[in-house]
Amino acid sequence: MYSKKVMEHFRNPRNMGGMKNPDAIGEIGNPVCGDVMKVYLKIGKRNGKEFIEDIKFQTFGCAAAIASSSMISELVKGKTLKEAMKITRDDVADALGGLPPLKLHCSNLAADAFHEAIKNYKGKK
Ligand code: FES
Repeated sequence: MYSKKVMEHFRNPRNMGGMKNPDAIGEIGNPVCGDVMKVYLKIGKRNGKEFIEDIKFQTFGCAAAIASSSMISELVKGKTLKEAMKITRDDVADALGGLPPLKLHCSNLAADAFHEAIKNYKGKK
């Protein structure tokens, strides 16, 4: 039912864990299942542009949520904030080779928590 990519990211999640002194935090709960995801960001500056220097996540959720968190962390790392903000919920699911329809809400959790972290960062400035 899950793609190979989902299973691979679930078994070997990238950028999982907490972060000391993050520049921003985003937290989203999934109203469908009650699972929670937290994203931590370190924002750097390169050629005058802010970019995602580091990202970590803690996901209390299902295999699809963990794989989606791992995938979005890879998709956004190193990107400028502007580029990273363009990554949508669908991009995450597509990059994972698709998700079963019942599990799409799990990939939304990852994208939403990430966007929430960026909002948190912008709000601080
Ligand atoms: Fe809760 Fe997937 S079932 S995030």
